[in-house]
Amino acid sequence: MSDAFDLLVGPIGCLVTCDAPAPRLAEALKELPVIAGGAVGVRDGVVAYAGPYSDVSDAPAKARLDASGRTVLPGLVDPHTHIPFLGDRSSELVMRLQGKTYMDIGRAGGGILSTMGAVRRATREDLLASARKAAAGLLSHGVTTFEAKSGYGLEVDAEIKQLEVLQDLASEGAQSVVPTFLGAHFVPPEFRDRPDDYVDLLCDVLLPEVARRGLARFCDVFCEEGAFTLQQSRRILLAGKALGLIPRLHADEIVDTGGAALAAEVGAASADHLMAASGDGIAAMAEAGVCATLLPGTSFYLRKAYAPARAFVDAGCPVALATDCNPGSSYTTNLLHVATLGVFGLGLMPEEALWAVTLNAAYALREQERAGSITVGKRADLTLWDVPSYVHLFYPYAENPLAAVVCRGRVAWRST
Ligand code: NIG
Ligand code: FE
Repeated sequence: MSDAFDLLVGPIGCLVTCDAPAPRLAEALKELPVIAGGAVGVRDGVVAYAGPYSDVSDAPAKARLDASGRTVLPGLVDPHTHIPFLGDRSSELVMRLQGKTYMDIGRAGGGILSTMGAVRRATREDLLASARKAAAGLLSHGVTTFEAKSGYGLEVDAEIKQLEVLQDLASEGAQSVVPTFLGAHFVPPEFRDRPDDYVDLLCDVLLPEVARRGLARFCDVFCEEGAFTLQQSRRILLAGKALGLIPRLHADEIVDTGGAALAAEVGAASADHLMAASGDGIAAMAEAGVCATLLPGTSFYLRKAYAPARAFVDAGCPVALATDCNPGSSYTTNLLHVATLGVFGLGLMPEEALWAVTLNAAYALREQERAGSITVGKRADLTLWDVPSYVHLFYPYAENPLAAVVCRGRVAWRST
């Protein structure tokens, strides 16, 4: 007889394990592995059992959670946020609704540069407090693993401060945090007339420091007209890669600058946004196995076209969904709502949207061995939803039917 479970969740009305090899592609995205009357057993923070409840109903367990009539999914994975940030850009929301574009506001010193000012001025403690709040928001929407990044410092000390805050957040919280260096988010005002000197600073000073201190897993670039050119992006991503940082990109968000093809060329884990991606770019990403991380919350919030999600799926490209949680283009921590926009805006089926916020999102972060599915040996990250089946997650919309969240085998959040 094996040791008692630390936690036994069961019986479960509808257990969706998402247990499959990553990434999940094309036709296979239409099917979800579901066990009716299932159970999940946890030991030492990892999944020790996932299967029928009848096989473990009498097993000893130190704690139990009944999920009759409920749906259990893996902890959700958000593969693109801009935590930590602070400041108030609500006036920009009004300007955008009056017809100013996102990039107009950025060029006029608002946008990313407005948040940059707030982040530069903030103490590490204030920035951490705001990051905690955002992480708690994600947790209350079922997110147990999320990507987070720098990119609002745009100078050595403030970029490092953001990444240190992410280290603090990861060490104190229940969720898993995957850090990205995004020094190439925007050219800061000091370098406005000499952007290549800022690229030099990134490649020669910041990237080596970030790599030496192990502060980030990924190096990201905002490859866009008005931000960084294709050539500058390539240079930064390859410099990061040579130092052990995995490339990822903000690509083809507003204009097709060839960012999708660049992602394939440099072996990026993911290219994100992609509303304007070309057919050739999509094919190149599929061929190279680059994850298309789509951000329908950004299309919704900026009132822009949605990315060509069906073309990515049909091309055999891995597809993930993320909040893009940031104070300018998508201010939300509600990943289920983003998945709902994946269904109603991008035209994904509920099954496809759920793979995109679990296993494929973990793949986008190179976390698929540890997260993204309820699989024996992976982290015991679970979400319990007060709905009888996963389709009901999309049936009433803009609700939060979350009942409880388990992070690494411990209950980290409960609805009140
Ligand atoms: O992913 N596109 C660039 N960066 C962010 C927005 C950041 C901001 O507006 O503060 C994005 O949408
Ligand atoms: Fe972003």
